[in-house]
Amino acid sequence: MKILVINGPNLNFLGIREPEIYGKNTYQDLCKMINKKGSELGFDIEIFQSNHEGEIVTKIQEAYFNKVDGIVINPAAYTHTSIAILDALKAVNIPCVEVHISDVDNREPFRSVSYVGMVAKKTIKGHGFAGYLEAIDYLLNNNNK
Ligand code: DQA
Repeated sequence: MKILVINGPNLNFLGIREPEIYGKNTYQDLCKMINKKGSELGFDIEIFQSNHEGEIVTKIQEAYFNKVDGIVINPAAYTHTSIAILDALKAVNIPCVEVHISDVDNREPFRSVSYVGMVAKKTIKGHGFAGYLEAIDYLLNNNNK
């Protein structure tokens, strides 16, 4: 089982950015937690972060050629704007779970709109970093291969 975790813009600033919303733990803490989950499960989980929309699109396209079985994606602000990321996920047809650290439905109204949510098998919001682990479990439990 190959899982790719994609994080969008400003998530590399976790621990620094708005700690009252995203918590005090850092992006490195998040990566450590995901890698630990991977070793418990006995496989590698690739983690990718970019502040650039096009790089995220390219990474999703590469996942097709790399035969990735599932994508966990927190598109961050691109959630609410990016038809390009939605189209890339549709193009590769790889099961994906959308994750948001904060509860986007209980913040500014523009955060309730999600393009990626139109293709995601499941959306997990407001569960903090644990949402990523839930997303990985969901992909494992719903893997048809
Ligand atoms: C976020 C929520 C988005 O609205 C925001 O732009 C982010 C992070 C979250 O994880 O809660 O950057 O995706």
